[in-house]
Amino acid sequence: MSLASCTILITQQTDRSIALTRSLSKALQLGTAKTVNLRLGSKNVTVALKPLNRKGNLLVIPASVATSIRLPSPGKCQVKATGNRELQIGPLIGFLTGINIPDGKPGQQKQFIREFLEAGHDRSYTFAFSPSGVNWRDEVVTGYFPLPGGKWVRRTVPLPDVVYNRLGHRGAEKTMSIREFKERFVSRRIPIFNWSFFDKMDVYRLLEDDLQAFSHVPESSSGPSPEEIRRMMEKHRFVYLKPTAGSLGFGIYRLTYNPEKGYFARYRKDGSNVLIRFPRFEGLMNMLRRQNIRLPNYVVQQGIRLIELDNCPIDFRFHMTKNGEDEWVVAAVGAKKAGRGSVTTHVRTGGMLMTPEQVLSTVYGSRGADILVKAKEVAVKLAEAIERNYPHRLGELGFDLGIDQDETIWMFEANAKPGRSIFKHPALKVQGKESLNNLVEHCLFLSRFRARRES
Ligand SMILES: Nc1ncnc2c1ncn2[C@@H]1O[C@H](COP(=O)(O)OP(=O)(O)O)[C@@H](O)[C@H]1O
Ligand SMILES: [Mg+2]
Repeated sequence: MSLASCTILITQQTDRSIALTRSLSKALQLGTAKTVNLRLGSKNVTVALKPLNRKGNLLVIPASVATSIRLPSPGKCQVKATGNRELQIGPLIGFLTGINIPDGKPGQQKQFIREFLEAGHDRSYTFAFSPSGVNWRDEVVTGYFPLPGGKWVRRTVPLPDVVYNRLGHRGAEKTMSIREFKERFVSRRIPIFNWSFFDKMDVYRLLEDDLQAFSHVPESSSGPSPEEIRRMMEKHRFVYLKPTAGSLGFGIYRLTYNPEKGYFARYRKDGSNVLIRFPRFEGLMNMLRRQNIRLPNYVVQQGIRLIELDNCPIDFRFHMTKNGEDEWVVAAVGAKKAGRGSVTTHVRTGGMLMTPEQVLSTVYGSRGADILVKAKEVAVKLAEAIERNYPHRLGELGFDLGIDQDETIWMFEANAKPGRSIFKHPALKVQGKESLNNLVEHCLFLSRFRARRES
């Protein structure tokens, strides 16, 4: 296989031949071939080859040929020659979203989609699409390409070479129709990564047999009975009760037990933090029942005594991506300081976003840098372990990690479709861009538009 970056031009000629400059032809080792099979995504057409007497890596395609492979536009991309006289243009990267792109409404998610598509702009054909945009019979997708000035253009293109799944609705993703939809890519050998949202307990279970990784998971118990909650509280004195499919801190209770004083529950109610004491365990359970907590949907978890700043607990978001070499890397780390009296560190509940350097140097002085290095190593190991034990492809993970008073690192949750709010911090903007670059490179890797190290 040989691979080159090139610029594609479209002309109004009607013949079935494409023209390549000498440097492109040489880079692709085309030799004396007279015809090739020109491919984009799932479409291909046989064309004659002509030389083009110009400088640089240019590929000129007549409009009729461009139409038959549904090439969306001229521009920069990659071209690949495989042994059997095939010239593949691409990659065609599909960003799968539930968002309605053409409705004209701005939004954070749309901004993120645009940033990702623009990150891929100079080396791929990258577009956003929704499940309803796919026509399986004709093997085409109607998707949206970004235009300068915030506009979008709608184009129908072949099935992509790789799919980055960012469908944003937890419930919808579990439905049979969406599962079948995703399976259809798999059965056509189109890599799709970020299979679906994780439930917290599923991730803890995935790591059960991975001794090293599991040592970073607090003791957790799924769908606990009141007896189990009581046992955990007696053992750890401090537990978290959280919905296994929850997010953003909704529905979380911090429960503590003091043999002299009784049981305490801290949680968020109507926009403020409350702390209630119950002399007896039954009182605590009655409160949970009154709040319609459905224990089968909850996890009770050993509470971790986090490091603190100004008496407020701190935890960390590790944004992990895979890169062009198929390795897990820490794209960025954000530190989150809990709002006063809040059970979680979310900004929504008064939390504050900081850099890990700020926090760790305040807490640990000059040792802070070493602790961050160690935490990054743990995060990479955790990502590798999750991937090893998970039956689908992953390209991105957002870990909520805590460091306790003994410097042990704990994983509270792994998000398979991590939010990007940490990148709002001015010091993390560069890493935000870098994370998108990693994901584009990973798409190049998965679609085989990147040289692979022989293994
Ligand atoms: N076992 C625990 N011990 C201490 N703090 C925890 C524990 N579990 C969660 N937290 C705190 O609550 C936050 C939210 O928990 P998390 O499991 O990430 O749920 P969510 O999906 O709502 O974000 C964490 O970022 C952490 O600050
Ligand atoms: Mg979280």
